[in-house]
Amino acid sequence: MSKGNDAVNSAGMQRYIDQNNKYLSERDSYINEVVKKWRFDTIAVHGLYTVTDAIEDYQGSIIEPIFMSTAQAFRDSDEMAAALAYKIPAWCYSRIANPSTYYYEWTLALLEGYGGDVETSCCSTSSGMAAIMTAVHPFLKVGKVKTEKRNFVATVQCYGGTYQQFSVRLMQEQNVECRWVLDATNLDEWASKIDRNTRFLYGELPSNPQLGFFDIKAVAELAHSHNIPLICDSTIATPALLRPICHGADIVVQSATKSLTSSGFGVCGAVIARKNLITNIDDDQLKTDFSLYIKYQQNRDFGPNLHPMQAVMTLNDIRTLRSKMDLMSRNTMEVALFLERHPMIESVQYLGLPNHPLHELASRYMWLVDAEHDEQYGRPINRYGHLLSFCVKGGIEKTRLFFDGLQRIWRATDLGRIKSVATIPAISTHQQQGDEGRALANIPPNMVRLSVGAEHPADIIADLDQALHRAAKFLS
Ligand SMILES: Cc1ncc(COP(=O)(O)O)c(C=O)c1O
Repeated sequence: MSKGNDAVNSAGMQRYIDQNNKYLSERDSYINEVVKKWRFDTIAVHGLYTVTDAIEDYQGSIIEPIFMSTAQAFRDSDEMAAALAYKIPAWCYSRIANPSTYYYEWTLALLEGYGGDVETSCCSTSSGMAAIMTAVHPFLKVGKVKTEKRNFVATVQCYGGTYQQFSVRLMQEQNVECRWVLDATNLDEWASKIDRNTRFLYGELPSNPQLGFFDIKAVAELAHSHNIPLICDSTIATPALLRPICHGADIVVQSATKSLTSSGFGVCGAVIARKNLITNIDDDQLKTDFSLYIKYQQNRDFGPNLHPMQAVMTLNDIRTLRSKMDLMSRNTMEVALFLERHPMIESVQYLGLPNHPLHELASRYMWLVDAEHDEQYGRPINRYGHLLSFCVKGGIEKTRLFFDGLQRIWRATDLGRIKSVATIPAISTHQQQGDEGRALANIPPNMVRLSVGAEHPADIIADLDQALHRAAKFLS
C-alpha cells in the first residue's frame, strides 16, 4: 500500500474503488454461495472461471486464457494509481498479478481448503523451492533486537532441496538456526526445540523419499500454543489425499511441478495459507491475508513469479487430479505388495502397507477426497499416494545394477508423473547433503525412490522383477 503519498490520492480514484468493491462483493457471494457448495472435482475442473468471465472478458474461450503479457494498460491515471496502490484488483504487471495465475491461485486455494471451515488464499510461485522460500522468509524478519538469533524447527526427513535451502542458504548464509526434528512423531522432540526466538514449525508429509509422517493436528496445536504457525509441504499427497490446513496447519507449500502437473510440462509452485494467521511477527497485513501479503509485497520485490503459460498447463492437469491420485495410489499399493514379498528387497517404505510403522497415523489423515460421494466407493477410502521407496539387498552395487536394468520405468530425478519414474536419492535428489545429512534423514545408499504412474501395474511389476533378477544374477 502507498502511505503518505500525495501524488497518489485523487477524487477520481474513488470511482474505480467503488466499482471494484461491487465486483469483489459479487465474487465473494459467488464463492460462498456457489463454488464452496461444489464437490472437489467440480472445483478442480472449473475453479473460479465462469461462462460470464469467458463471454464478457475472454472472447468466450472455454479454457482459461493464457495472458502472455507483461502488463495491463489502464484507462487513465486514476485507475493506474488505484491499481498500483492495490486499492482495486488489477493485473498491473505480471510479476505481481496476471489473469492466468489468478485462476490457478483460486483453484488451489479452494482445493486446499475443501471440506474445512476455513478461508484460504494462494500465491503462485515459479517453483516448489520458490514456494518454500516465499513461505518461510516473512517469518524470518530481523526483530527489534537485531542480534537475536532467529530459529525455526523442521522435520529432517524432507526433500534434498529443502534440506539445502534450510541448512546452507538460511543456516550458513543468513545466520538463521534450523533445528532439525529427527523423529517427527515425537511431540516432545518438537516441543523441546521451541523457544521464544522460534518463528515457525515446518514439516514435510509424506516426506520425499522416506515417507515420513507426523500428527498434523498435534503439531499445529503445539505451534499455536507458542503463538507460531505450522507450515507443511504437502506435495506428495496433493489436496486430493490430504489438506493440512483443514487439520490445523496454517500454510501449505506445493511443488505443483509434481502430481499437480502430472503431465510433466514444467516447474511451478504455490503457497496456500489460511486467513488470520497465528504468528509472533507483528505485522497486520501478514497476519490477515498471508498469501496476499507475499504476492503484493515480498514477491513483488523478489520476483519469483509463475509464468502464465505454466499456470494454465497446470490447471489443465489439476482438473483430473482426484481420479489420477486414486489410480496411481492403487497402482502403488500393488507395486508395494509385490516388492514387500520379493527376496531381493530388504525393506519397503509405503504408508499404505498395513505393517508400516506409520500406517495407522497416516490412515487418520490420508483419504481419497469425496470417496463417500463416489458411486464406485460410496464410503470413505484411505489412499496413500504414488510415492514409495525401497532398499535393495546387496548394497549400492546391486542397487545400481538393478536401477540400470530398468526398461519401462524412467531413471530421472522426478516424481508425480503420469509415467513411472525412479531414482536413487543418495546419488541424485539428496546427493548434496552428504553422508551425514543423509544418515540424519534416514536415506541409505541402497534406497530407490519410485513414483508409480498410471501404467497398468502388472507392467511396472514386470519391469521391476526383470531388473531385480538381472541384478541378482550379475553379482552372484
Ligand atoms: C516434497 C518436495 N517439495 C519441494 C520440491 C521442490 O519443488 P520444485 O522442483 O518444483 O522446485 C520437491 C521437488 O522434488 C519435492 O519433492
